[in-house]
Amino acid sequence: MKQEYVLVLGSNLGNRLENIRTATELIASAGVSILADVPPFSTSPILVHDQPIFMNAGVLVQTDLDPMQLMQLTQEIESLLGRKKRFRYGPREIDIDIVWWSKGHFASQNLTIPHPENSARFWVRKILSTLAPEKTDPVTGILYRNVSRMSIQKITDFEKKKKACEKISMLTVYDYSMARLLGRTSVDTILVGDSLGNVIQGNADTLSVTLEDMVYHGRAVRRAIPDKFITIDMPFLTYQISNEEAVRNAGLLLAKTGADAVKLEGAGRFVKTIQLLTETGIPVMGHLGLTPQSVHQLGGYRMQGKTEEARSRIITDAKEIEKAGAFALVLEMVPAELAKEVAQSLSIPVIGIGAGPDTDGQVLVFHDYLGFISDFRPSFARAYDNLAERIHVATEKYCEDVRTGRFPSKDEYH
Ligand code: KIV
Repeated sequence: MKQEYVLVLGSNLGNRLENIRTATELIASAGVSILADVPPFSTSPILVHDQPIFMNAGVLVQTDLDPMQLMQLTQEIESLLGRKKRFRYGPREIDIDIVWWSKGHFASQNLTIPHPENSARFWVRKILSTLAPEKTDPVTGILYRNVSRMSIQKITDFEKKKKACEKISMLTVYDYSMARLLGRTSVDTILVGDSLGNVIQGNADTLSVTLEDMVYHGRAVRRAIPDKFITIDMPFLTYQISNEEAVRNAGLLLAKTGADAVKLEGAGRFVKTIQLLTETGIPVMGHLGLTPQSVHQLGGYRMQGKTEEARSRIITDAKEIEKAGAFALVLEMVPAELAKEVAQSLSIPVIGIGAGPDTDGQVLVFHDYLGFISDFRPSFARAYDNLAERIHVATEKYCEDVRTGRFPSKDEYH
């Protein structure tokens, strides 16, 4: 029975265009109909950067072959074109991946469709959004026409997104393993937030987080996510004492973690700090509204900007932060109308949290959106999963298996 597949071809050794053209011809000459294609375009290597630029292309094909038969064909073509086994993510004469199948899911020991790395690879997203725009990804349920956007990789991408009216998705993350998972998604940008004081360290506030803590977590996240723009929080007392200390600490944060930018809270005298940092070449994301490092001054974690005076203060502060050179602004827990007005008054993107739908993007804390913590979650933080429950169930299953001797089983020991 006829079925459709999307194949992604890549080459960065030898005559790249010729390799892709010959591979496509060999696919067609094996009786596989090519229904549509995305012509070759160049892409920078990910993960292993020290290798030639890739050419990538895509084809939508129709065939009677089942996934394993099609994989066998693509492997034969790869070896005909001289593909050698090298290291993972390394250079290659030709690579042909099956990334989508009209029947949805397929899983065997050597082949999984959709390809598990699809959403981490922007060229695959581009090909899927062109060749199968009206199909949905069987794992995420997302329409492929919506997946082609590039994650933010450099500071200028923030402004571009705002100009293009593309909403920015930002998430916090704090450790290597979780960051690797986010690195494989289309999330635009990452924040190593000092909220780690709450969700990782278990404190009631963020005040005891140190520069060393941020360096430790920032490094782990950068190691896992080499290609997305990472902002890291300047913790309490690392920029408040003097501008000189602020520059030194912000510089250290970037130098020691490999993050791309720092975030700091507040305006007023910190506007000057932002200006000095940006003049020093350190990109700054501002943070207004509920600024957790001032929780005691604010009298708790509560909505800000409710009075007319507070509202116009936030608008003025936001404009000053932009003028001082910040490339983006986080606006936390303010009324949606105010957030809308701030976003409309600035040319840098405003990324909201608990600030309604009309900002240029949204940010959520890792543990909140995944439902990691069962006893408390802010009302504005939507939980997209319930990992607290799932971890509980998995752990109880493990304990029961140990108690009953079902773990380990014969194929789990030698
Ligand atoms: O520290 C943090 O995670 C933050 C976000 C809540 C914006 O600042």
